[in-house]
Amino acid sequence: MTDSLTITDNRTGRAYEVPITQGTIRATDLRQIKTDEEDPGLMAYDPAFMNTASCISRITYIDGDRGILRYRGYPIEQLATRSNFLEVAYLLLNGELPTRAQQEAWVNEITHHTFVHENLKKFIDGFHYDAHPMGILLSAVGALSTFYPSARNLNDPEVVHLQIVRLIAKMPTLAAFAYRHSIGMPYVHPDNGLSYAGNFLNMLFRVSEAKYTPNPVLERALDVLFILHADHEQNCSTNAMRSVGSSRVDPLSATSAAIAALYGPLHGGANEAVVRMLGQIGSVANVPDFLKKVKNHEAKLMGFGHRIYKSFDPRASIIKKLADEVFEVTGRNPLLDIALELERIALEEDYFISRKLYPNVDFYSGLIYQALGFPSNMFPVLFAIPRTSGWLSQWKEMVVDPEQKIARPRQVYLGEGIRDYVPVEARGQQKELART
Ligand code: SDX
Repeated sequence: MTDSLTITDNRTGRAYEVPITQGTIRATDLRQIKTDEEDPGLMAYDPAFMNTASCISRITYIDGDRGILRYRGYPIEQLATRSNFLEVAYLLLNGELPTRAQQEAWVNEITHHTFVHENLKKFIDGFHYDAHPMGILLSAVGALSTFYPSARNLNDPEVVHLQIVRLIAKMPTLAAFAYRHSIGMPYVHPDNGLSYAGNFLNMLFRVSEAKYTPNPVLERALDVLFILHADHEQNCSTNAMRSVGSSRVDPLSATSAAIAALYGPLHGGANEAVVRMLGQIGSVANVPDFLKKVKNHEAKLMGFGHRIYKSFDPRASIIKKLADEVFEVTGRNPLLDIALELERIALEEDYFISRKLYPNVDFYSGLIYQALGFPSNMFPVLFAIPRTSGWLSQWKEMVVDPEQKIARPRQVYLGEGIRDYVPVEARGQQKELART
């Protein structure tokens, strides 16, 4: 027995030996399978990459069937209870937990890069008062790249490290400025005496007090949520980060593209959609009717389902427990009862069981964010802040991977064959073009 496939092409009767490595075959090995010398050879066709590995990575491991998530080998459950977000960001970026000295140096670096150029305030001021904070964030991060032209020098490790520090440090500042702009409140400068999560709460919620003191339970809850959202292997926005980054653009511009991908309601925008869905359901009594709509494909159960997790999302389980601790301080979110009833029924009904639909990371996180006082349009922003460390870890891995080149997929062309130009006076006689 060998680690290979023997492929027989029934069009020609020819057989091919294709090696199997790491549970995969190389798609380029299919190119040799031709019917004749004119034939360009076979390609693999995989819309939305349902079964295609785009890279080799050593950062995050997920077992969707067993509900396992590990960052650099450490189980998410242990990191959520024993670590903190900046330590996890260091782990994702460097592959090892920091020593005490490394941790102190890392926190010091992040703390002293939280300020942004004053002109960025003018940039954010230019947005309409009700601009979605994710639209502001993706624009502001793209604008940030224009303040650091040296960021495109990807061959200098020091330059690369400085851009990573800048992005992780400045994300909360830009996110808080977007929020303060949307409520017409003055911007609050970073407070270097506070933790990463504590300073974020300070920039969001400080009013006129001389010193903002975050509630320790809420500060810890936000830090744990940041840990849970830090990375998730090749999700949609990470794929955007790697694909855009493969053109060797600077990492700030690539991060702007990743934020745009996360903005979508099927991805990071789902937490906002969950709270909106729960509000529309309105009461526990309306849950059965809503689930009927879902089964008739008239609505999606937002916060449910996952491309990889075909059993529970371990993050959802941790967040569900965290919600109880937060509600002790903030008061119970009334939407929780509707969420619990949705989960209870969905986990019993064949429609959801047969499709392996379980609560994902977004199902309960929005309820906590709402209880913390965030408006729902800030929820995807709260996802983008910690995921920046994951995007940068994956980008850093891609940039130095000798196998990686500019991402440029192939296509199957089924469009028109060659045809001659038609002058405008002769048009209209041609067949009605399909309305797209
Ligand atoms: C995140 O990739 C990641 O890791 C992402 C993420 C991360 O950390 O980066 O984990 C974060 O994005 C979590 C997912 C948040 N999105 C949502 O909660 C939106 C609702 N969920 C779905 O849109 C869906 O489940 C996806 C997008 C998450 C996954 O979609 P897939 O893998 O493409 O699955 P599919 O759409 O092909 O669905 C398979 C079947 C279909 O049924 P049929 O049409 O075959 O009858 O399941 C149904 C779907 O209709 N289905 C749902 C459903 N999700 C899938 N039906 C109702 N409600 C849902 N939520």
